[in-house]
Amino acid sequence: EKGGYPDFMLKEIFEQPRVVRDTLVGRLAPTGELDIDELGLTYEQLDVIDRVYVIACGTSYHAGLIAKNLIEGWARIPCEVEAASEFRYRNPIITPSTLVVAVSQSGETADTLAAIRDARIKGAKVFGITNVVGSPVARESDGVIYTKANKEIAVASTKSFIGQVVSLTLLALLLGQVKGKLTTAQVRMLFHELGDTAEQIQWVLDTQKEAVHEAALACKDARSALFVGRGMGAAISNEGALKLKEISYLHAEAYAAGEMKHGPIALIDPGFPVIAVATKSPTYDKTVSNLKECEARGARIIAVATEGDEDIRKVADHVIYVPAVRDALSAITATVPLQLLAREVAILRGCDVDQPRNLAKSVTVE
Ligand code: M6R
Repeated sequence: EKGGYPDFMLKEIFEQPRVVRDTLVGRLAPTGELDIDELGLTYEQLDVIDRVYVIACGTSYHAGLIAKNLIEGWARIPCEVEAASEFRYRNPIITPSTLVVAVSQSGETADTLAAIRDARIKGAKVFGITNVVGSPVARESDGVIYTKANKEIAVASTKSFIGQVVSLTLLALLLGQVKGKLTTAQVRMLFHELGDTAEQIQWVLDTQKEAVHEAALACKDARSALFVGRGMGAAISNEGALKLKEISYLHAEAYAAGEMKHGPIALIDPGFPVIAVATKSPTYDKTVSNLKECEARGARIIAVATEGDEDIRKVADHVIYVPAVRDALSAITATVPLQLLAREVAILRGCDVDQPRNLAKSVTVE
């Protein structure tokens, strides 16, 4: 049932182009309007939304970090992302014009469900993004988008994350359209570019195996690693660090690159691995400056960079390339090298990548 792959995690990573395609099937009407039939909310109800909370746990929370950038960037609605376990025990500002977006692969995570229930009692509209049809998150939300990842077996979430990011991107496009901040033509263009990420992921899977392996060799004996980036790169650095620690048991931390000199740079000594998301973006030069500071202290730098960027080799010891893509959509492609890297390091360290110790696939108790 592993379909010829050595483990479920790799099989699921390789399914990601299909997940992108399936999550988008039928979502763009011939008129250019987005079609989310399970929306459960009318355009009038969406138009009054003036605050969004994305609540989730673990990897799903990291998908939320990406959504914040998109929802604020495209729809200009303030958006906060919060761990469900925090959200449920404080007193967040919720009004009838608040939209709570609950993201959960399993659709049954205890904290996420409790947060949904609490938000609804307080009058919020709740939108679920889940991989499991008919799951509690789907049933208890006003509307839902299914991520079409199909069953995910490896404990470390990969294809579900990609499905979540694609779904949240759709939601951000929809909010941008409803709020009149994006034209139909812009939505159509962005939608098609979103679809193109399926082939871009495939390119990474087909061409970067050796680069991933080399980078993994550079990390495998480390005691700790830092993941850095800015903007979308900062958001997915969190996911890269989580993947690495949960399956390889190597301590990893994510930092916004600009925060390095406020503390974490003290960690760096010769050979310390710094994994940088340094794809072409408006803050590319700033990230490269941060990497030079790490390099000067002997860090071993692994960069995820844009295909064709040879200059990055001046600062990075190892480079894993992704195709050029608009910054807003870059999280999808740039996450794939981080997943592959975590898996490769785990294998080199002799770990069971599908069944990491101490972890369960679904966390139904608090
Ligand atoms: O099913 P959920 O998306 O609600 O699960 C949330 C987390 O438990 C999950 O993402 C966890 O962090 C994974 N092990 C990450 O790979």
